[in-house]
Amino acid sequence: MASSVYIHIPFCATKCYYCAFNTYTFHKEQAKAYLHALRTEMELYASETEPLQTIFIGGGTPSILSANALSQLLTDIHRHFRITTDAEITVECNPGTVDTEKLRVMRGNGVNRLSCGLQAMQDETLKQLGRIHTVDEFRQSYHLARENGFGNINMDLIFALPEQTMDAWHHTLSEVIALEPEHISAYNLVMEETTPFYESWQAGELHLPTEDTEADMFQYTIETLTTHGYEHYEICNFAKPNREARHNLVYWNNQPCIGLGAGAWGYINGVRYSNIRGIAPYIEQLSHHNKPIADTERLTGHAEKAETLMLALRKREGISVEAYQDRFGEEIGAAFGSILKKWMDLGLLERTATHLRFTSRGLFLANEVFVELM
Ligand SMILES: C[S@@+](CC[C@H](N)C(=O)[O-])C[C@H]1O[C@@H](n2cnc3c(N)ncnc32)[C@H](O)[C@@H]1O
Ligand code: SF4
Repeated sequence: MASSVYIHIPFCATKCYYCAFNTYTFHKEQAKAYLHALRTEMELYASETEPLQTIFIGGGTPSILSANALSQLLTDIHRHFRITTDAEITVECNPGTVDTEKLRVMRGNGVNRLSCGLQAMQDETLKQLGRIHTVDEFRQSYHLARENGFGNINMDLIFALPEQTMDAWHHTLSEVIALEPEHISAYNLVMEETTPFYESWQAGELHLPTEDTEADMFQYTIETLTTHGYEHYEICNFAKPNREARHNLVYWNNQPCIGLGAGAWGYINGVRYSNIRGIAPYIEQLSHHNKPIADTERLTGHAEKAETLMLALRKREGISVEAYQDRFGEEIGAAFGSILKKWMDLGLLERTATHLRFTSRGLFLANEVFVELM
């Protein structure tokens, strides 16, 4: 049973040059058929959920749907799932695709958190990234969301962008802090192989900041945001007190979550699954009332322990030694004793009274460190 649901809306106005998420150009008719298929998928999973604590409608660009379509989607969710009264319900919104009507539909249907992709506070950078909006359009969308009663807003940012200077990143952060969002996700750019960015980079047309500059940007982000009252609670995530993303904590705690939609993945009854990525085959499967699953993997024994450790170490507090023991009936050292000792000796990991967590140095090297667990 799961008490969290992720719903994927795989449409965007155009594709950003750096993005490898499962998204396609928006077509109204296709979106209609897609929402119909999603409704069938909800039916197929309804009995596998407990009253929902978190719902995340992500993408892609969910806010590209019309107010009518959003209303239909949210009504379908309420019809198929029981939802706790204090559930966190998030929708990803792209600047330039929201208006008062859509925001009202969302508020009226229980959406209480928005996640807005901003990325950078310079118009020329937004253009270089292939974003469809300007900084001004972002500000308008943000203020409109506030005016329509949204009191819990996340902003997504990316640093270590091509040609990005430290000054530009300082400027982005200070402008964002001035807007006082409740939550900030600051990702370092990942060069995804299937993207136009990757091609240009391989062709020598894009120049990335050096690893030292990237580390300095990350360090500066942590210092600046924590000074301004944001808790650094996960490698890339910062929140005002009690504003952590509850849905994302479900992932980092390796708890069950149902994933619905093309390319979505879920984790239920010890099985991780991922859905068919293409929109047409996804719709086709659901027209036969079949779950549109492409792959499954049963996580047992060592794999589940390693994944639980890896995900929990992403949190700044690290992994609770007691929670691990409760879940697996053995001490964490039983499976990972030698590797944990090695990381501690290298100064990458430290023990607190209740947890094992990365040191600041460990945080910078997290991705390289995780490879040893796989
Ligand atoms: C799945 S996207 C959806 C959000 C929304 N469509 C938007 O772009 O405004 C969530 C976030 O992932 C981040 N992201 C996407 N591709 C990335 C990449 N290659 N490297 C780092 N961050 C990336 C961006 O910050 C983006 O806002
Ligand atoms: S970053 Fe967001 S808007 Fe851009 S292509 Fe990816 S999902 Fe779509």
